[in-house]
Amino acid sequence: MAACQKLTITKPDDWHLHLRDYQFLASVLPDTAKRFARAIIMPNLKDPVTTTQLAGEYRERIISALPSELQKSFDPLMTLYLTNRTKASEIVKAAESGFVHAVKWYPAGATTNSEKGVSDIVACYDVLEAMQQTEVPLLVHGEVTDPNVDIFDREKIFIDQFLTNIIKNFPDLKVVFEHITTEQAVSLVESTSSNVGATITAHHMLMNRNALFQNGIRPHHYCLPVLKREIHRKALIKAATSGNKKFFLGTDSAPHTQLTKENACGCAGIYTAHGGIEFYAEIFDKAGVLDKLEAFSSFHGPDFYGLRRNKDKITLSRRRHKIADAFPFGDETCIPFRAGENLEWSID
Ligand code: DOR
Ligand code: ZN
Repeated sequence: MAACQKLTITKPDDWHLHLRDYQFLASVLPDTAKRFARAIIMPNLKDPVTTTQLAGEYRERIISALPSELQKSFDPLMTLYLTNRTKASEIVKAAESGFVHAVKWYPAGATTNSEKGVSDIVACYDVLEAMQQTEVPLLVHGEVTDPNVDIFDREKIFIDQFLTNIIKNFPDLKVVFEHITTEQAVSLVESTSSNVGATITAHHMLMNRNALFQNGIRPHHYCLPVLKREIHRKALIKAATSGNKKFFLGTDSAPHTQLTKENACGCAGIYTAHGGIEFYAEIFDKAGVLDKLEAFSSFHGPDFYGLRRNKDKITLSRRRHKIADAFPFGDETCIPFRAGENLEWSID
C-alpha cells in the first residue's frame, strides 16, 4: 500500500505545556497556537500560579501575547500549582472560574520551579477531597524526590509510595499521570479506573536514555522525568498507539535559554512545540498506525477532561523540513529539539 502523503485530522490539543511568561511567552506561544486549539498551561512560573486570581492574570498575558490571527483560535486552559498551603476554598473558586481546568501536584524539589510544591500530600487531603467533589482533575508529576533513590527509578517508586494510595483514597478524583516514562506507569494507568489517564510526550517516545550521552553529554536531551531504557520507550509507543482512551497527547514542551541548558548545572526541559504534532505523526507513522493519531491527539484528551472535541481540522503532509539551529527566546536563544536536523512531517 502506498504511504499516506497527507493526513487531515481534527485540530489537536496539547494537554501539558510550559509557556513561561512575558517576552519568553511571546517567543514560544505561536508555535503552539498554530498547531493546537487548546493547551493545558503548566503553573510552574518562577512565582507559581497558586490562585485562581493569578491564573486569570496569567491567562490574560497569554491571550495578549497571541498574534492577532491566532487570538480567536487558541484557548489556554489554566491550572493551579498545589502547595502545602492551598485551601479547599481556592478549589471551589477555581471550579467556578470556567478557566481553571486542573491542579498540578509537583512534589517539592522534583523539577524546575517546584521548590514551593508539596512536601506532604497527606496534608493536602482536604484539597483533594474538594477537587474530587468539584471534578477538578489532579495532574501529577510522578517522581519521588529522595536523593538516595536512583534517578531512573523515581517514577516507579512514586507509584508505590504515593500514587496508588491517592487513587485508592480518592476513587472519584480524576488523575492525570503526566509525561509517563516507564512500563510500570503504563501498567498502572491500564489497570485503574477510567478516572486515571496519562499524557505521553513525543521526546520520551523518540529517545531512550542513550540519547543523553550520544557522542558526549547532551544537555538538550535532559528533561524530567529523565529518559529511560529502550523497553520503557517501546511500552510508551505501544500505549500511545493502542487506541486506549486513557492515553493522550501532552508535549511537555519546556523552553529554557541556551545558557541555562548548556551549563555546569543545566536545567531540565526540552523544547518541542515547533514540531508539536509533527513529531507524533512521525512516531505513529513509523509504528504503521497513522490512523490512530487523531484519537490520541484530538479525542482522548477532551473526552477525559469533559470538554467538547474541536471542530477545526489541520492537515499534515509528508514533507521533510529542516529544523532551525536556534530560535529567538526573549532576548536570548532556545535550542529546539532536533536542532539542525530533519522532521519528516510538516503542517500545511
Ligand atoms: O523537563 C522538565 N521541564 N520537566 C518538568 O517537570 C518541568 C519542565 C520545566 O518547567 O522546564
Ligand atoms: Zn511539564
